[in-house]
Amino acid sequence: MMASERVESAIEDRRAIVNDAIAEQLPIRKPERLYSASRYLLDAGGKRLRPTVLLLVAESVSETGSPADDYRAFPTPHGESVDILSAAVSIEVIQSFTLIHDDIMDDDDLRRGVPSVHREYDLETAILAGDTLYSKAFEYMLGTGAPSDRSVAALDELATTCTEICEGQSLDVEFETRTDVTTEEYLEMVEFKTAVLYAAAASIPAILLGCEQETVDELHGYGLDIGRAFQIQDDLLDLTVPSDTLGKRRGSDLIEGKRTVITLHARDQGIDTDSLVPDDPSDAEIEAAVERLEAAGSIDFARELASDLIESGKQRLEVLPDNESSELLEGIADFLVERGY
Ligand code: IPE
Ligand code: IPE
Ligand code: MG
Ligand code: MG
Ligand code: MG
Repeated sequence: MMASERVESAIEDRRAIVNDAIAEQLPIRKPERLYSASRYLLDAGGKRLRPTVLLLVAESVSETGSPADDYRAFPTPHGESVDILSAAVSIEVIQSFTLIHDDIMDDDDLRRGVPSVHREYDLETAILAGDTLYSKAFEYMLGTGAPSDRSVAALDELATTCTEICEGQSLDVEFETRTDVTTEEYLEMVEFKTAVLYAAAASIPAILLGCEQETVDELHGYGLDIGRAFQIQDDLLDLTVPSDTLGKRRGSDLIEGKRTVITLHARDQGIDTDSLVPDDPSDAEIEAAVERLEAAGSIDFARELASDLIESGKQRLEVLPDNESSELLEGIADFLVERGY
C-alpha cells in the first residue's frame, strides 16, 4: 500500500470508531429539536481529522504503538486505564460547535454537503446547538476517568483552546474590514482560530496518559504547525475545489472579503483583492479570479508556506518512539496539505 493510502485507511478506521462513540455519547433526547440540531452536522459527515490525530498520539505513546482493541479502556504507561475515546469525541464535538457558529458568522449556507444548521433549523437553534456542543465537550473531556490532576490539566488545555478559537475568529472578522493585514498577523489569526484545536488534539492524549512535559510540549507544537498549514490548505481549497466536492460553497472567502495568505500576497502584487469577484459570482467568475491569483504567484506562495510548516511540524515528532502510529502522524501531516477536500 502507498503511504498516502495507509494514512487514508487509518483515518477511515478511526473515523468509524469515533462516529460510533458520538452516537453513543450524544443521544437525541428532549428537547428533541435542540439535540437533533446538535447531532445534525456530526451525522452529515466530516473527515474526523482531529480525533484521528488524538487517537494516533495515544497509540504512539502506548506500549504497542499500534491500533488499540478498546479505546474506552486504554492502558496508560502508569498502569491505569483511560477512556481516550471520550477525549476524541470531545475534540470532534468542539470542532462541530465551531463550524455551526462559523457558518453563522461567515453567512455560509452549505456545510458537509448539507444546509448549514442555521439554514436547516433557524438562527436561535443554531446558536443553542453550538453552545450545547461546547459544554458537552467539557463533560466528555471530564469523563475519561484519568487521574484527577491529569483530567484538570486536560480541561485547562481545552478551555484555553476554546478561548483562543474565539480570539482567532474575532480577528478573522475584524480583518475583513482592514486593508493592511500582514502575513504575520494572518499566521497569528489562523494559529488561534484553527491550529490550537490541532494542538489540543495532539497534546491532550499525552497529558491524559501522563507523558513527560517535553513530549506534551512538542506534540502541542506539532499541532500548531500542521494546524496552520491545514488552514492555508483550507484557504486554497476554498478557491479551487467545486462546492459539490468541498461540501461548502466554493469562493466563499472571496465573497466575504476574507484575508487569507493568498489574497494578502496578491494585494502586495498590486491586485485589488476586494473586487476580484462580484457579489454572487458564477463558477466561471471564480475561475477567472483564481487565474489572476495564480498568475501573481499567490497560489504557489501559499503552497510553499504550508509545506514549510508541515516539515517543521513533522520534526517535532522526534519526541515520539518509532512505531506504526507515530509514522501515521507524519503521514497525516502530509495528508493535511495534499487533501483535495
Ligand atoms: C473546517 O475543518 C474548518 C476549518 C478549520 C477550516 P475541516 O475541513 O476539518 O472540516 P470537517 O470536520 O472535515 O467537516
Ligand atoms: C474556520 O475557518 C475556522 C473555525 C474555527 C471553524 P473557515 O471559515 O475558513 O472554515 P470553513 O472554510 O468555513 O470550513
Ligand atoms: Mg467559514
Ligand atoms: Mg470563518
Ligand atoms: Mg475556509
